[in-house]
Amino acid sequence: MSLGVRVSKAGRLVVLVSGSGTNLQALLDASADPSYGARVVAVGADRDGIEGLARASRAGVPTFVHKLRDYPSRDAWDAALAADIAAHKPDLVISAGFMKILGAPTLDAFPVVNTHPALLPAFPGAHGVRDALAYGVKVTGCTVMLADAGVDTGPIIAQETVPVLPGDDEARLHERIKTVERRLLVDTVGRMAREGWTVSGRIVRIGNHLGGGNS
Ligand code: GRF
Repeated sequence: MSLGVRVSKAGRLVVLVSGSGTNLQALLDASADPSYGARVVAVGADRDGIEGLARASRAGVPTFVHKLRDYPSRDAWDAALAADIAAHKPDLVISAGFMKILGAPTLDAFPVVNTHPALLPAFPGAHGVRDALAYGVKVTGCTVMLADAGVDTGPIIAQETVPVLPGDDEARLHERIKTVERRLLVDTVGRMAREGWTVSGRIVRIGNHLGGGNS
């Protein structure tokens, strides 16, 4: 991704979820304040019956679900998902615990922000917390990035550290990371919507477009 992009104010967010949706909830809560600069206009999922979808419904936000197994091919699933996303005219798509790799129909059409519970490029993939713990790191954290076609390989937008504490298991460490992750995601997406952002190669900058400056 090398093209500069600037997102208009009052950004429209389509959020994709696969599970409990606490990151989604943090975005819903933040966007209740108009000064946040972005609001969740739709929530998409790859499965039914998840708390993430219930959170959207309680907030009065429209939802859509596309299960991979309901489609004859991955390409067909990708196309259907992208069409529903496009119908909501997002400025940003947020992959917030969405456990599928997005395909070209979505990635080529919209900037996608992804969040990961480890300090990339360490410990990508579905078990970032478990892998960091097993490796024995003393510090881990979370990463907010732009999604690309790889697994957690996109340009990094923001990161924050979380210490690994004696006695941590995967669940306890993940909960502590998620507390930081929710705040980092809300803060990053809000700044992107309010201040605009650019990407050049792997370098993402929020605001400060004329002066350069790393954000
Ligand atoms: C987050 O830690 C996200 O980074 C990971 O799954 C978790 C989703 O949590 N991929 P929630 O569904 O937002 O509560």
